[in-house]
Amino acid sequence: MKKLRSAAWFGGTGKNAFIHRSWMKNSGHPEDMFEGRPVIGICNTASDLTPCNAHFRQLIEPIKRGIYEAGGFPVEFPVFSCGEPNLRPTAMMFRNLASMDVEEAIRANPIDGVVLLCGCDKTTPSLVMGASSCDLPTIVLSGGPMLNGMYKGRKIGSGTDVFRLSEEVRAGTITMDDFLDAESSMSRSPGHCMTMGTASTMASMVEALGLALPGNAAIPAVDARRARLAHLTGRRIVDMVREDLKLSKILTREAFENAVKVNGAIGGSTNAVVHLLAIAGRIQADFKLEDWDRFGRDVPTIANLKPSGAHLMEDFFYAGGIPALMHTIRDRLQLGAMTVTGRTVGDNIADAEVYLPDVIRPLDQPLVANGGIVVLRGNLAPGGAVLKPSAATPELLEHRGRAVVFDTIEEYRRRIADPDLAITADSVMVLRNCGPKGYPGMAEVGNMGLPPKLLQQGVRDMVRISDARMSGTAYGTVVLHTSPEAAAGGTLALVREGDEITLSVSRRELTLHVSEDELARRRAEWVAPEFGESGYRGLYRRHVMQADTGADFDFLLGCRGAPIPEESH
Ligand code: FES
Repeated sequence: MKKLRSAAWFGGTGKNAFIHRSWMKNSGHPEDMFEGRPVIGICNTASDLTPCNAHFRQLIEPIKRGIYEAGGFPVEFPVFSCGEPNLRPTAMMFRNLASMDVEEAIRANPIDGVVLLCGCDKTTPSLVMGASSCDLPTIVLSGGPMLNGMYKGRKIGSGTDVFRLSEEVRAGTITMDDFLDAESSMSRSPGHCMTMGTASTMASMVEALGLALPGNAAIPAVDARRARLAHLTGRRIVDMVREDLKLSKILTREAFENAVKVNGAIGGSTNAVVHLLAIAGRIQADFKLEDWDRFGRDVPTIANLKPSGAHLMEDFFYAGGIPALMHTIRDRLQLGAMTVTGRTVGDNIADAEVYLPDVIRPLDQPLVANGGIVVLRGNLAPGGAVLKPSAATPELLEHRGRAVVFDTIEEYRRRIADPDLAITADSVMVLRNCGPKGYPGMAEVGNMGLPPKLLQQGVRDMVRISDARMSGTAYGTVVLHTSPEAAAGGTLALVREGDEITLSVSRRELTLHVSEDELARRRAEWVAPEFGESGYRGLYRRHVMQADTGADFDFLLGCRGAPIPEESH
């Protein structure tokens, strides 16, 4: 085994080694903990304000047991917890901040390998991004999904059914009492959202990338097998340090290809697009926005899970989870890709089986024949925009209509219920100034609700275009991440009421039917927003890049490794 990084702190007999060891000993660690044992950082995002991760304190003990058993020295450390339900203006605005916390905490401390303990949407990418910039041996443990939500005998899923039920209230088909009753029935156990929303998607992505042990994504948070997985994760990271199995050996182009294909097969969240691009930017993998379309094209969605399908993550676990799903699509995967087990993807999934064929469908009975995420281009999105066909209405995937434009989400909220709003089911709803700089942090409002007067007529979907994101639990014919965003001077800023727009998924096209001359005139009149804020919000707006490169900070791109920093004493 190569010399441990932690030996630069704990090795030797000098004054500094005395300081590093002595203060650690106030927790009662015996002498031999500092002699040649890999020091494993457990990067913990537990927080009462991130309810999806609040149970992590129970996972720490089994992780530590596993690390001790394998001869390591576990050290838990907290990092900024990006909790989706409470953070304003968006958890996404803090993803990059959390990733800086993770990166600097790993590099500055006597750590040889890392367990990333994450669950809620942004906690997974922020931790993997930060760790990728250090490139030490790293393994991910997700906290696991909540048990199925149940209301009046029907499964209800996090997020997805909030959107559905709130539309039903607006349409007058259920009462407000029904709506409020569903609240407690939806979140009835520890864990993260149990639809195939962003949290479950990112847990699936880390498993598909080879960053987590097989089974990581689907085991419910409260199932004893989650604690068992934590124990095994603790054991495994110690051996990964001995094998020098670093992130860069796992996060290859082949790994990203597998992740995109798995995303298509699970009907995963569009948020994974920005997160995987940001991770690739840190580890410097050859992986671009176009690869989402290239690798994901024609991958059938076979996981029958909300928001695209009928079931929830607990069912997905009983059906065999990600190993069974990957086994089903194995002919499309890069089976030779290395994983944290020290074995290849092909080895890991060789014996996987599907137990519930309605939950993980056979290839000849997919939920959606062409799943994946479509990358659209055109004068309205020169940098690209994305759409998830499995969450859309098939008849709307080829559509031409007139724009109804909302300058901000606040303006949308003011106008949408106006009975005089000039809008029909064929209109294209355009929302802007909700992108990385504009909001800031790309609000999850791209699936803006339909006008009540159209809902009452039975309309349930319309084409919507924005520079925003959409919750992974949401659905609709929704064009997202339009790049460049309006606040950065993208064409989206120039759209006017009544302009015609074409969405063609078959041609991967998003066109604004306005002449170049007219667009040039409008551009000359356009006034760039002035933000002028200080603090983190100001830093975010000055340095965030566009969605097509992952909305990371320009100064965080790349892998800075984990060289031993200067001694301070
Ligand atoms: Fe935390 Fe969905 S809000 S996982």
